[in-house]
Amino acid sequence: MEFDRVVEKRQSIRNFSSKKVDWREVIKAISCALHAPLAGNVQSLRFILVSDREKIKGLADASQHDFLVKAQYAVVVCSKNDQLKRLYEDRAEMYSRHQAGAAIEHFLLKAVDLGLASCWIGAFSDEVVKGILQIPDDVNVEAILPIGYELGKTKKRQKANLDSVLYFDKYKNKYMKYSK
Ligand SMILES: Cc1cc2nc3c(=O)[nH]c(=O)nc-3n(C[C@H](O)[C@H](O)[C@H](O)COP(=O)(O)O)c2cc1C
Repeated sequence: MEFDRVVEKRQSIRNFSSKKVDWREVIKAISCALHAPLAGNVQSLRFILVSDREKIKGLADASQHDFLVKAQYAVVVCSKNDQLKRLYEDRAEMYSRHQAGAAIEHFLLKAVDLGLASCWIGAFSDEVVKGILQIPDDVNVEAILPIGYELGKTKKRQKANLDSVLYFDKYKNKYMKYSK
């Protein structure tokens, strides 16, 4: 799909049909996530592809998001930050979050490109998710990404107008000095 179309089409989908998803398509989206920028190119991210129905139900409970049970798969994005901490000390935590977000967005865009639907879930009990998936204490859970085919049609959320968020040369300055 054309890039701008993918970006426009991406939206959080919370209704999934029962149509099966080929797990190899999910692997393609995870592979795309690996192309995200990473501070110092430190490979802090880990991905758990969850297909076990009981575990997906557990993730739905851990996040109190019932729609998750309708997803064909869930991808749980984790960060292992020991190397980032060694290199970047007090900035490591922020970098870890940034690069997880960049990777998640790559995943979401590739999902759209493949005709799939997903939703970034950031609200969950870390402890419960870690328990279900046997994630070690020193690893952070960044997001749960359910994946499936959309059921029905979801109204697109309104986004900011460019002129309300864009400044030139200094904060709040809305005018650009333009010379040819
Ligand atoms: C950091 C982050 C956390 C989010 N957590 C949740 C969540 O826990 N549950 C949920 O349903 N959506 C969650 N979302 C999705 C947002 O609600 C959604 O992106 C927003 O409403 C804009 O809609 P859109 O994605 O369709 O453009 C999260 C998004 C981000 C970026």
